[in-house]
Amino acid sequence: MKIAFVGKGGSGKTTLSSLFIRHLAAAGATVVAVDADINQHLGAALGLEEDEAAALPAMGDRLRLIKDYLRGRNPRIASADTMIKTTPPGEGSRLLRVREDNPVYDACARPVELGGGAVRLMVTGPFTDADLGVACYHSKTGAVELCLNHLVDGRDEYVVVDMTAGSDSFASGMFTRFDMTFLVAEPTRKGVSVYRQYKEYARDFGVALKVVGNKVHGQDDIDFLRTEVGDDLLVTVGQSDWVRSMEKGRPPRFELLEDANRRSLHTLRAAADAMYGVRDWQRYTRQMVHFHLKNAASWGNERTGADLAAQIDPGFVLNEGLAAAV
Ligand SMILES: Nc1ncnc2c1ncn2[C@@H]1O[C@H](COP(=O)(O)OP(=O)(O)O)[C@@H](O)[C@H]1O
Ligand SMILES: [Mg+2]
Repeated sequence: MKIAFVGKGGSGKTTLSSLFIRHLAAAGATVVAVDADINQHLGAALGLEEDEAAALPAMGDRLRLIKDYLRGRNPRIASADTMIKTTPPGEGSRLLRVREDNPVYDACARPVELGGGAVRLMVTGPFTDADLGVACYHSKTGAVELCLNHLVDGRDEYVVVDMTAGSDSFASGMFTRFDMTFLVAEPTRKGVSVYRQYKEYARDFGVALKVVGNKVHGQDDIDFLRTEVGDDLLVTVGQSDWVRSMEKGRPPRFELLEDANRRSLHTLRAAADAMYGVRDWQRYTRQMVHFHLKNAASWGNERTGADLAAQIDPGFVLNEGLAAAV
């Protein structure tokens, strides 16, 4: 299951991603955690010391390795140079599984112990000014998008991405790569306006979007969110003393998280899990092709000097059944 946490900066994406990841790990699920947020704080939120977090390998610096591994023996992708972030897999490509060892995880993932078990953590690496503009070819989140487009994930396997709700993810199609998107919103007009924008993009692509109200103080906050986002409001999370302690570098055992917040995490998992049965790999593949063609035409063909539409394997559909094949 591929799950994104998006929202305005400061809304609590990283905090809620990290709590959700801890919740999954405590339940024994297999988790790959990905930090694709502009401010790279997921490692710290999962309890890494500053020097440990700083030493995490950046996916953005290992794009060539990722591309060379994923393209495998796909004859339609002649070299890593012509592989852009939207290049879809086809016959001969290598796929990624949540539960396996592979060169991408070797190079980019590090285990983080969370009590219940270790999760794999991958980070895009710090963003620079260039990343926030239109640096399509070298985009930091491109590495994440390539991995998602080559991922065959099953039940009880989770990829959780802490991610910025921004124009980059809309242009590339990254926002369509998830089984469930949790939009974290504070009960403020700004929080809600990010939701409206996301909803508008999401509508045309059937993106499953739920709002998680955060830093909610009382009924008035809940009423505000309910009025503004309606049934899309899945759950709310209040100020957490557990989170406050963690921020002071003294994380209590996860079992001590407040009951109400634990119930909210449970609701998030149930909402994500409910999407398993309605996953549509045909549509998933079709959307990846759609965004590839769009990116090829708008900058990819020119940038690589190749006709990137030819990379599409018309008979290929990504699906869970491919997980068994190597
Ligand atoms: N439910 C919460 N309880 C207490 N503090 C919170 C909560 N949610 C977020 N925070 C705090 O708010 C700040 C911003 O949260 P963060 O998760 O870093 O936001 P984002 O990743 O969206 O930029 C952090 O200091 C975080 O600890
Ligand atoms: Mg963050």
